[in-house]
Amino acid sequence: MGRTIIEDMIMKEVDRLLAKANESIKTGNKDFQLSSIVEICIGSIINQILLGYRFIGETEQEFYEIKNIMTKGIQIRGNPLATIVMFYPRVLKHLPYFRDYWKELNEAGQIFQDFISKQISSQLETFKLEGSPEEATNFGEAFFIEMHRREQNGDTNEFNLLQLRNLLIDLWIAGQETTTNTTNFGILYLLTHPEAQAKMQMELDKTIGNERRVTLADRSDLPYTNAVINETQRLCNLLPQNVLHYTTKDVVINGYKIAKGTTIAPQISCLLYDKDVCKSIVYRHKQQFDIL
Ligand code: HEM
Repeated sequence: MGRTIIEDMIMKEVDRLLAKANESIKTGNKDFQLSSIVEICIGSIINQILLGYRFIGETEQEFYEIKNIMTKGIQIRGNPLATIVMFYPRVLKHLPYFRDYWKELNEAGQIFQDFISKQISSQLETFKLEGSPEEATNFGEAFFIEMHRREQNGDTNEFNLLQLRNLLIDLWIAGQETTTNTTNFGILYLLTHPEAQAKMQMELDKTIGNERRVTLADRSDLPYTNAVINETQRLCNLLPQNVLHYTTKDVVINGYKIAKGTTIAPQISCLLYDKDVCKSIVYRHKQQFDIL
């Protein structure tokens, strides 16, 4: 299977990441922070898919500004009090103490919404609307073409600028922090488990060599590297409190009756750290458990 446009995009960012890391090593830069290079690399991949441009040169600063706003918003949301306000906003947003959290939450959300709206107008306003979605080079363009096509038939229900803005926000937030933090956890685990690092390096040296980069097509030839990635995801337990779901019918789980329409907050760590569940994973992927 040949490389996809997305993979090429990712490889370009990986090259930039490695070049920056090597430069810092060469110049002995002690302030060098791998995590900030990882986050701009991932931000650039996501933004290219969504809006067609990378954060490089002049736009690097733009990335770090928006990233700080996003981190602040996530920290506020992570506070249990903010979660309580979100469950009962109509009443709690007027009460002292909760009121401040509500205000901070909205302010961070508003700045992020403004950033995305600005991106939509600057990136898409001049975009030629006559093309077909296949001609689009990013998600925003494809959405714009479909929105325009429907508008001509008087349909503005599902494809409109508000939907586009909210979709972009969802994808930005869902993709950025998760991927960045998982990657950073992976680096941290490898640093603190040199034996796993050496074993993975040995596999990469043997299978890939040092003449080229590892690509997605190598995946099935790298069982240990895959196992390290899977184990990183299991251990870092990135979203311990998963997104909310609700039951679509009455169910009984372990003898507990849960009525249709009940909100569920899944605790994924119950599975990730359960030896019985992980045993079956070990069974399917022999090298997966206890490698780190
Ligand atoms: C290591 C990286 C990632 C992790 C750990 C992660 C984790 C998760 C989890 C736990 C959920 C909830 C699943 C559920 O119970 O329904 C979820 C949903 C979602 N994620 Fe990710 N995610 C990652 C990367 C991404 C990326 C790169 C994107 C897109 C740019 C993305 C977009 C979404 C979306 C749109 C949903 C909601 C899907 C739905 O509506 O059911 N995620 N993710």
